[in-house]
Amino acid sequence: MLPQWLIEKKRDGLALTADEIRWFVDGFAAGSIPDYQMAAFAMAVYFRGMTGEETAALTRAMLESGDRLDTSSIPRPKVDKHSTGGIGDKISLPLAPMVAACGVAVPMISGRGLGITGGTLDKLESIPGYRTNLSTAEFLGVVRDCGCSIIGQTDRLAPADRKLYALRDVTGTVPSIPLITASIMSKKLAEGLDGLVLDVKCGRGAFMQTREQARALAESLVRTGTAMGIRVTALLTAMDDPLGRTAGNALEIGETIDVLRGGGPADVVELTVSLGAEMLALAGLARDAASARHRCQEALASGRALDVFRDMVRRHGGDVQAVDKPERLPVSACRHELRAPAAGVVVGVDAGCVGRACLVLGAGRTKTTDAVDPGAGVSGLVQRGERVEAGQPLCVLHAARESQLDEAQALLQDAFAIGASAEAVPSVLERLGESDQ
Ligand code: URA
Repeated sequence: MLPQWLIEKKRDGLALTADEIRWFVDGFAAGSIPDYQMAAFAMAVYFRGMTGEETAALTRAMLESGDRLDTSSIPRPKVDKHSTGGIGDKISLPLAPMVAACGVAVPMISGRGLGITGGTLDKLESIPGYRTNLSTAEFLGVVRDCGCSIIGQTDRLAPADRKLYALRDVTGTVPSIPLITASIMSKKLAEGLDGLVLDVKCGRGAFMQTREQARALAESLVRTGTAMGIRVTALLTAMDDPLGRTAGNALEIGETIDVLRGGGPADVVELTVSLGAEMLALAGLARDAASARHRCQEALASGRALDVFRDMVRRHGGDVQAVDKPERLPVSACRHELRAPAAGVVVGVDAGCVGRACLVLGAGRTKTTDAVDPGAGVSGLVQRGERVEAGQPLCVLHAARESQLDEAQALLQDAFAIGASAEAVPSVLERLGESDQ
């Protein structure tokens, strides 16, 4: 077999066999198939797509390029959540301890922010001392003892994906449903899960801008996970407006702590509880959807989820006092309040604009090697449907330098639509996967 034969086959729109895909991925991971041939292959997949069988074979080959965590010593159902990413999407942070408090084990391997979407690891690292690079043994120990742990990807988990993702990033081949599916699912399957809940975002602040694209991705993820032997549910959720009132690393930790104390913005609480109820259902820990939601709400209201979060932070070396006194979290030197030009109702807040503003404020990165400013971002965001008076703050910008505030302010000029009335959008638009209990 020669690599170019398989590239040509895909280029001409034919389906590859599982053996051919495995051979190609193994060769790429081992270095015998060079980057330029993998780049051509990825472009052929981008244009020609893959069947469900091909996508599952690609996922399996990428998964088996590395290790799979052995979670068998953890005596709880193992269920995780993956979000395709959005602005202000801090849901993993209250969700993991909330479902852990209900009896689920969550071995969560997360990523860093890139482009306009934030990353769970950057948010956690804004807690002074929090280590995201635990060894596998430490990680499994924290999951066993606390019920959840959140770390970064290790070199041994789906290494073929790490290499392929870097190549896709510079060859215009990221937005391909089979490639995204194999990338996400190979990493999640490596966690040794029984179940996975997917939060597939759609809207102007998301990777997938339309409902059709988001649904196609969700269907591909659910089909592939099911073919690989785990229970999978996907929620399609709205990402036209930012989630909650903050976007930025330490600012989102502050909002997470509010939610774990039983408060926080209603949209963040609602999505956390909706995803948590799905996780409990996959774990077999709830009689029905209503009791699953009730258990999640009770874990937040009682402070048990906050206790789990505190334990997890302690075990990761983080400053536990910052959990009880969020004013100890890092803050940026400069602030600016953006004020409403006129009175009215907030019709919408453009999540894409807020994401781009966060990037220039220093909360995000454009290259994987960039450092992030933990205190930077946006707080006090008004939300769709709220009434504002002329001159009232729409949000507060935080950055290290005044020049960053000026640039972000210009980007936010048209982000806030103010009018006579606003259309309410439910946070969960559709549900796919296992039928309701
Ligand atoms: N996230 C991933 O992990 N992989 C992709 O291909 C896209 C988003």
